[in-house]
Amino acid sequence: MNETLERWSSRRAFILAVTGAAVGLGNIWRFPYMTGENGGAVFLLLYVAFVVLLGLPVMMAEILIGRAGRRSPMHSLAHLAQQAKVTPHWRWLGAFGALTVFLILSFYSVVSGWSIEFLVEAVNGDFVGLGPAEIGANFDAFLADPLRMTFNHTLFMILTMSVVAAGVANGLEKLNNLMMPLLYVLLVVLVIHAAFTDGFAPALTWLFRPDMSALSVGVVINALGHAFFTLAVGACALMAYGAYMPDHQSLPRAAGAVAILDVAVALLAGIAIFSVVFAQGMDPGEGPGLMFVTLPIAFAELPWGSLWLGLFFLLLLLATWTSSINLAEPMVATLQGFGLRRSRATAIVALGVWLAGMLSVLSFSTMAEVHWLAGMNFFELVTTVPTDVFLPIGGLLIAIFAAWVLPRDTALRALDAGPNGFRAWRALVRFVSIPLTLIVLLSGLI
Ligand code: PHE
Repeated sequence: MNETLERWSSRRAFILAVTGAAVGLGNIWRFPYMTGENGGAVFLLLYVAFVVLLGLPVMMAEILIGRAGRRSPMHSLAHLAQQAKVTPHWRWLGAFGALTVFLILSFYSVVSGWSIEFLVEAVNGDFVGLGPAEIGANFDAFLADPLRMTFNHTLFMILTMSVVAAGVANGLEKLNNLMMPLLYVLLVVLVIHAAFTDGFAPALTWLFRPDMSALSVGVVINALGHAFFTLAVGACALMAYGAYMPDHQSLPRAAGAVAILDVAVALLAGIAIFSVVFAQGMDPGEGPGLMFVTLPIAFAELPWGSLWLGLFFLLLLLATWTSSINLAEPMVATLQGFGLRRSRATAIVALGVWLAGMLSVLSFSTMAEVHWLAGMNFFELVTTVPTDVFLPIGGLLIAIFAAWVLPRDTALRALDAGPNGFRAWRALVRFVSIPLTLIVLLSGLI
């Protein structure tokens, strides 16, 4: 496979694309319920520490490989391994990444379908006058209805794949330009509203005052997995975007900007959601339904609540859309690297992911009690193992390849941060990120 000539049109476009990949369900849906289930501030503290010490340096490693290879992840790895005169088996890391994004995208599409449902319900005014209990019951009724869920899941796959089929660097830029700023504005409005409610103070305590007794190995592992997930790192998905990165752009600066934007969304969403949780006396450990129950309650208290709620779910949908496009890209690029036309590659990926997603759809009704591993049904399995195990393993291998295997000059050029920046980055990856990820992964095994 030859080098790709496709490029993002500017440095800003690249940062927006990576932010679009990073900001999504991870920040607004997964972060709050994971924080709720994992003891609050302890989880937040660990997650931020992991973002700085592992997520960010490994993100740079991953994009760097794509930029140096300028091919699909699998083909970039094979090409660079050959240049470095090491075993071509490194290309299997690209295949492992493709498996990871396959599994993630399968549930991602289903949950994004929930936002389509809520968008429609909000615009219809279905939430008007409902109390917290009724809003919860409404969500449960939706989950128990596989037909409605299938419809939304299918619609979301079509949305995603129509952009992917067109080639991401063209399709995505305009979408990102509009959506990202609006999303921040709306989250800030929600937080300002929250500041005037009784739940605000306990929410801040829950999020920012660590209770060390909540600390456990499980919490550490969940925080590690979440740091990778939220930054979109460890599945070679950003590697695919790195292939289109413009020449002459400092990678650490771009990655740093993305991480700040990403964590900001999680914090804003967390404050807004936990303010409702505490104002309503709900359980923070409510699980994956947390956002879908709390936000309709929060918006119901605002003037023109349904309108705001509809707008919020529209923005969430756009945010998950840009993430799912990134999730699909490495699979499509890889098939393309094997000579398939882009449209055909997209169709194959779409069909496979849709089928796997159906197992998640059914996990809320017919297959709720079908346990695949350790008592987990398919949805529970696919929302934990790929994130908490596959992403860190992928990230570890990516870090090893970039910081130990790649020839110094290749890596130096692709990082584009000068010799000192390069030395600092490589030392951080070699002596902090790699050992730390290994320790956490091994402690999980034991
Ligand atoms: N970062 C995305 C989110 O937070 C999910 C994602 C994970 C995207 C892995 C790409 C790769 O929603």
